[in-house]
Amino acid sequence: MVKIDKLLASCLSEIEKCDSLKKIESIKNVIFGKNGKITQVMDELRRLDKEGKRKLGAEINFVKDEITRHLDLKHSKLQSREINKRLESEFVDVSAPARPRSFGKIHPLTKVAEEIENILSYYGFVCADGPDLENEYYNFTALNMPDHHPARTMHDTFYINVPSGEKGRYLLRTHTSPIQIHSMLANTPPYRFFSIGRVYRSDSDATHTPMFTQVEGLVVEKNVGFAHLKWIITNFLKKFFAVKDLSIRLRPSFFPFTEPSAEVDLNYEIKNGEIVFGRGDKWLEICGGGVVHPNVLRHGNVNPDKYQGIAFGFGVERLTSLKYGVPDLRGYFESDERWRNAFGFHHVF
Ligand code: DAH
Repeated sequence: MVKIDKLLASCLSEIEKCDSLKKIESIKNVIFGKNGKITQVMDELRRLDKEGKRKLGAEINFVKDEITRHLDLKHSKLQSREINKRLESEFVDVSAPARPRSFGKIHPLTKVAEEIENILSYYGFVCADGPDLENEYYNFTALNMPDHHPARTMHDTFYINVPSGEKGRYLLRTHTSPIQIHSMLANTPPYRFFSIGRVYRSDSDATHTPMFTQVEGLVVEKNVGFAHLKWIITNFLKKFFAVKDLSIRLRPSFFPFTEPSAEVDLNYEIKNGEIVFGRGDKWLEICGGGVVHPNVLRHGNVNPDKYQGIAFGFGVERLTSLKYGVPDLRGYFESDERWRNAFGFHHVF
């Protein structure tokens, strides 16, 4: 009995010390294998009489059961430890930021165009398009700027040196407003359209480039008016600059295609050297807009006695520079990789 007690104690302590699933297998072998410790004790049974066999047999069974119980316990303990270890090393941190890939960056104008598109789509605006190569009719006449209207000269137009068509001289559009006419002619009101596109003016210095980008918005519905214009511009700016509150200031202005017209200012303050929108009492001009002139509606085949329109226009480079701190307008179009690396955005997949 003493011998068998010792055997049990030594087996249990070996099991206790064991620290891997592989070792458990060899321990099993040392205990229960062909020349294992228990097997050797079993051999002794043969030499005993009936009573001795019965007694030792019962003891051996008890020891076997104890050892098996401890082996099983150890086995499941080690197994769960190994599973946890693997889980830890194979852990995928889904909250980690995406790893940037090195195939260039997204141009800030592309990023902002997408942001604008998202916001205006949310308010029910549908994307509309028009040609960069326009003619005088769509760019000016249909927008209530008849021949010799002084506003035409303000646009520093690039005329194309080809014979005039039936809609006047060809030119590079000086604004995205002609898309209003194309959209009205191709659709039946009510509708809300927006366009983002390049426009061209013969002008170049630190704050002007001969090509730049505009967003145009047009709503034609029954009973739409100046209050809606104010609402949509305020909410657009809140979403764009990600601020809960902001003030806009509407200054009376003139555009031939809207009456009344306004230039819209946005409030801001400078805090710790940074511009904060929606706070403070400084003002920054941000867009133009107004109630669509009845003549413009007529040119778009819309009956001004039945429908009203509101329209607005933003400069996309200006919005981008304000939001992302891009300093010089010219960088947008110079295709300089250093500039794109500084102000561009990573692709996120
Ligand atoms: N087309 C104008 C420009 O280029 C901007 C603009 C002002 C567009 C008022 C509009 C508007 O639709 O209503 O300066």
